[in-house]
Amino acid sequence: MNAYTIHDLMDKARRRVPRMFFDYADSGSWTESTYRANEEDFKKILFRQRVAVDMTNRTLATKMIGEDVSMPVAIAPTGFGGMQHPDGEMLGAKAAAAAGIPFTLSTMSICSIEDVSEAIGGKPFWFQLYMMKDRDFIANLIDRAKAANCSALVLTLDLQILGQRHKDLRNGLSAPPKINLNTFMQLATRPQWCLSMLGTRRHTFRNIVGHAKNVGDLSSLSSWTAEQFDPQLNWSDIAWIKERWGGKIILKGIMDPEDAKMAVSTGADAIVVSNHGGRQLDGAPSSIAALPAIVDAVGDQIEVHMDGGIRSGQDVMRALCLGAKGVYIGRAWLYGLGAGGQKGVAKALEIIRKELDITMAFCGERDINNAGPHNLAENRLS
Ligand code: GLV
Repeated sequence: MNAYTIHDLMDKARRRVPRMFFDYADSGSWTESTYRANEEDFKKILFRQRVAVDMTNRTLATKMIGEDVSMPVAIAPTGFGGMQHPDGEMLGAKAAAAAGIPFTLSTMSICSIEDVSEAIGGKPFWFQLYMMKDRDFIANLIDRAKAANCSALVLTLDLQILGQRHKDLRNGLSAPPKINLNTFMQLATRPQWCLSMLGTRRHTFRNIVGHAKNVGDLSSLSSWTAEQFDPQLNWSDIAWIKERWGGKIILKGIMDPEDAKMAVSTGADAIVVSNHGGRQLDGAPSSIAALPAIVDAVGDQIEVHMDGGIRSGQDVMRALCLGAKGVYIGRAWLYGLGAGGQKGVAKALEIIRKELDITMAFCGERDINNAGPHNLAENRLS
């Protein structure tokens, strides 16, 4: 596939995927200022270039929550993957398994936990959970994730209510798409996508449909979250989830050192510094700006991961230099998926891996585990 950057994949995805689904990925809440800041703030972090350093025998291999990873990059949980490309999450999980990195399946995925497990032959993957009012349904989801050999539960803490994404409302986002004049044009201009979707039966949220009881409109994210997500979620609920799950747990959506300390006190295995890709609190700082204070506060007690704005291997290196032990890519994998299914995701991972490897070398490191603040230059221009 002819793509050299994540941006190339994004352009390809834009041409292939109906607008409502492309825009779902490419959007933040309200003014999208936090969404943009996530990307832009990375550019302000400069590397300290070293020369005449032996660059042979480089390695990106490390561990995240004790699991071997070929590079410290996981696929982030993202909704609607199977609408970027038929069977999207199954293909993403296959690409991740082939690349030796974790795949995190979202609760709001199109392919189910069982679909993904089958696609990768029962190998472990990570499952992301939203807390919903129906505790029986949550208990059942947790049990399904266990039965599917998931090796970590990623509990998202920042989406009890939904930050409004104007594009989704304007485009009439739903899965499956509801046909009206607006959506008809979006689909009619992407005939190849429409044809390819006829080849799968996976068109809606399969973790939920057929499993949750007494639900109204399931097809739209905004109605589902408004109806089902638990606005009363609090720290004490985590103990219940942890006990039911009994395995590794990662708390996602931490943006404040005080919350990070609370997260440590739950006994979680890792936290993800995340503003949900700028899709929730518009006006929050970028994730990368929030990272250093959180690493300072809890970095010696818990593994700190981050997501938000990573579009290159350079960005991965920047996050590692600021203390993250691993990062997650959300849009980058969705763009790859939209651009070319499993091959597109593999390409996204290859692009990021190569960029990270070469960047690390230019910084004078041969082992990614040695990346740190010493690899950063002072920014004398800002
Ligand atoms: C969550 O599923 C989101 O759309 O941000």
